[in-house]
Amino acid sequence: MEKNAVISIKNLVKKFSVGDGHFTALKDINLTLNKGEFTGLVGPSGSGKTTLLNIIGGLDSASKGSVNVLQHSMDNTTHNERARLRRKYMGFIFQSYNLLPVYTVFENIELPLILNKIVPSERKRIVDQAIEWVGLEDKRDSRPNKLSGGECQRTAIARAIVHQPAMVMADEPTANLDAENSHNIMKILVNLNEEIETSFVFATHDEKIMGYLKRIIRLEDGKIVKDEIS
Ligand SMILES: Nc1ncnc2c1ncn2[C@@H]1O[C@H](COP(=O)(O)OP(=O)(O)O)[C@@H](O)[C@H]1O
Ligand SMILES: [Mg+2]
Repeated sequence: MEKNAVISIKNLVKKFSVGDGHFTALKDINLTLNKGEFTGLVGPSGSGKTTLLNIIGGLDSASKGSVNVLQHSMDNTTHNERARLRRKYMGFIFQSYNLLPVYTVFENIELPLILNKIVPSERKRIVDQAIEWVGLEDKRDSRPNKLSGGECQRTAIARAIVHQPAMVMADEPTANLDAENSHNIMKILVNLNEEIETSFVFATHDEKIMGYLKRIIRLEDGKIVKDEIS
């Protein structure tokens, strides 16, 4: 694996059991993602974007081939080992935000730091910094049901990057947002990408996102058909 690679995938195949048979969702994927990249997995619905993103993020495993995350082989790892790698090195942003409703903005963002056993005094400083990055100072103590969609997604972004992970995976992060909020979210993410060394990977078919991406990997029918750096 090269020095700058955060993810290296070789001859990946992903099959799902369907009824008595199986469906091949990813076919012979070869891919290296490098430190600090801002990449989109793009393609029509059903092309395999989410499946690939979930395998990159250790939420799912390959049927064949090898996946390396920061020099750690994900092949033959247990669920618990993958969870440990995710906690330490990864952040996730979802279309539906996935915030915990009983927690405030501050508490939602604090969670990855608690899981990574950062002490409370340190946590406060780091969370306040993340809140500032996404511009939610005035919503610090609000619960998600008092936030707009854009504010929920900004909270989710802060939660995804608060432990300065090596990688952030974002699955259709703008799908529930209007144009203005989508552009705001993308601008925040571009700024973060320049500020911290985190590599971002999006799964998206949102045209509004395309202009922000620095690398576009196009999927069709479970295969990479194009890989361009802009
Ligand atoms: N758990 C599953 N079981 C069976 N088929 C699945 C499963 N997850 C995804 N698929 C199929 O794999 C293909 C790719 O799905 P997905 O990765 O979600 O596509 P995308 O995110 O590009 O819309 C689709 O045809 C989908 O129906
Ligand atoms: Mg998807």
